[in-house]
Amino acid sequence: MSYQDDRKEYRAGILDDSMMTCDPMELFSSWLAAYRDTGAEDATAFALSTVSAQLEPDARIVLLKGLTEGKMLFYTHYTSKKGKDLAAHPVAHALFFWPSMERQMRVFGSVSKVTPEESSTYFHSRPVMSRRGAIASDQSKMIESRAALDVQLQTIEKTEDANLQRPTTWGGYVLEISKIEFWQGRPSRMHDRLVFTLTSGEWTVQRLQP
Ligand SMILES: Cc1cc2nc3c(=O)[nH]c(=O)nc-3n(C[C@H](O)[C@H](O)[C@H](O)COP(=O)(O)O)c2cc1C
Repeated sequence: MSYQDDRKEYRAGILDDSMMTCDPMELFSSWLAAYRDTGAEDATAFALSTVSAQLEPDARIVLLKGLTEGKMLFYTHYTSKKGKDLAAHPVAHALFFWPSMERQMRVFGSVSKVTPEESSTYFHSRPVMSRRGAIASDQSKMIESRAALDVQLQTIEKTEDANLQRPTTWGGYVLEISKIEFWQGRPSRMHDRLVFTLTSGEWTVQRLQP
């Protein structure tokens, strides 16, 4: 199969020069809210890229669980592959692609763990099956079969809901944003790109060629 003739013109919006004076965190919120309002599934999903101790890049989808004061919150297993990468290099890239709006957003920043109390509060707000799943899975570790994984869940199912504790190896991270690029598709591949960089607490902005 050939994909070489798959192409489209991008006409859904613009990022004109007046946007260069906007607050990039407000623009992030408004773009995310606009995409979520389209009814898109997993609207808060983004590709989280990390770098291993051996300097190998890796990426996977996670869900955004909060956005406040320039910090993106997400939850995972600290002992997972991504957790190990973040322990080695506490920086990450977050990539959002919102095709129906012809938008891409690229975020860079440093990553740190949230407090155990914050992780526990969120853990206990999750549906019970999500809590059980988090306890039953040792994320990113090899397991010999699906049946063995199901046994791990069945073992946890014997615990009363009220006794389900957050594993200390599961919790939240915040990505503190220091750079963010907004991309809006335009006709003839003359796309709009605005890059905001945080330096000494102040945002500076540049327009990049597409
Ligand atoms: C739509 C979607 C949402 C996901 N959300 C999360 C999430 O919030 N946290 C998480 O740990 N994994 C999430 N995953 C699974 C990850 O993509 C990944 O498989 C897992 O975290 C293990 O990655 P790692 O081995 O690189 O650490 C999600 C996957 C998809 C497709």
